[in-house]
Amino acid sequence: MAQAQIIKTKVGIVGGGPAGLMLSHLLAKQGIDNLVVESRDHETIRNTHRAGILEAGSVKMLTDTGVDGRVLTEGDEHEGIDLRFNGESHPLDFKDLVDATVTLYAQNEVFVDLAAARKRDGGDVRYEAEVTEVLDLETTTPKFRFSDKDGAAFEVHCDILVGADGSRSFCRRAVTGEQDYKIEYPFAWFGILTEAPKSAPELIYANSPHGFALISQRSETVQRMYFQCDPAENVNDWSDDRIWAELQKRVDGPDGFQLKQGPIFDKTVLAFRSFVREPLSHGRMFLAGDAGHTVPPTGAKGLNLAFADVKVLFEAIDSFYATGSDALLEGYSDLALQRVWKAQNFSYWMTSMLHTREDASPFETKRALGELATVTGSRFGQQYLAESYTGWPHK
Ligand code: PHB
Repeated sequence: MAQAQIIKTKVGIVGGGPAGLMLSHLLAKQGIDNLVVESRDHETIRNTHRAGILEAGSVKMLTDTGVDGRVLTEGDEHEGIDLRFNGESHPLDFKDLVDATVTLYAQNEVFVDLAAARKRDGGDVRYEAEVTEVLDLETTTPKFRFSDKDGAAFEVHCDILVGADGSRSFCRRAVTGEQDYKIEYPFAWFGILTEAPKSAPELIYANSPHGFALISQRSETVQRMYFQCDPAENVNDWSDDRIWAELQKRVDGPDGFQLKQGPIFDKTVLAFRSFVREPLSHGRMFLAGDAGHTVPPTGAKGLNLAFADVKVLFEAIDSFYATGSDALLEGYSDLALQRVWKAQNFSYWMTSMLHTREDASPFETKRALGELATVTGSRFGQQYLAESYTGWPHK
């Protein structure tokens, strides 16, 4: 076999999704040489539909660092959400409650902007490149091996290795014997994209006896919606009519609210779970984003949490090169995990309050409605949800 070609860089980043690319962008701006290796091709990532809500802190990371201002012109600022239960709407006004807003801007658009910025700035991002090994993590020169789409082999030697390679992270799985915290949920989301006008000005999170539904948006003419389903559900069993009937059933109420329907052009089942690896570092390897932790999508925290990790990690790496001290690198895991567990709690809480379980007792179903009434029934309750949803300040 041909000898692997050696590449030397300061920071080797495994994973070219939003977390890996954002870190690469920040490092490059600071003159810190780095390389990104991603197994998928650009088109596949661009077409991977994920949540679409950005906290103000995430928007700021895109605009303040010169990634692109498209999030400001094409993103849609939302001042609240609508919690719907017992067939009634309960609007939460984030602007009034906590003086904060969120921006609806699809995660794949964030990827497109970041990938374009890396290209514009001459960043080294290798797509369709499969990492096969990580090694020497406990030394000052961690390494990883990868092969590109033509089968050529490379070995990257770096000072710092970052695993930003998503929930099935190769980097994370290469380290055994650490603590993994996780829970599975007995349901999934059936997600659709439809060519239809908006059904309501704000996103609707609906609890109903038939299960959860989320009425989200993408633009004036394209909408994103989800309904709770069995993880084994097959999208081919669902005609457009059947999907619309299911969604409508979950938002039905005495106010006569009707979804605006249109042709459905994308259907996917998204399984989800809650997961945290501790610590988020192992020697000179650091995990960021979904590689280190996964949340269910109910609070749209995934990408925001990944960006928050990247911010903390970037500052630690920057300090390492500026001062030669690895004190901040050593503190990365603890600092990032503080926010991770707050977001874990929020995502778990939103998920359990809004979804129904087949095995739930009538008591449990009523209790969840009591919880929703408590949250929506006072300014304090509303503020608790609003503060978490819009995102805690970055440290
Ligand atoms: C979405 O628009 O895809 C979306 C929005 C809010 C969520 C999850 C997903 O909580």
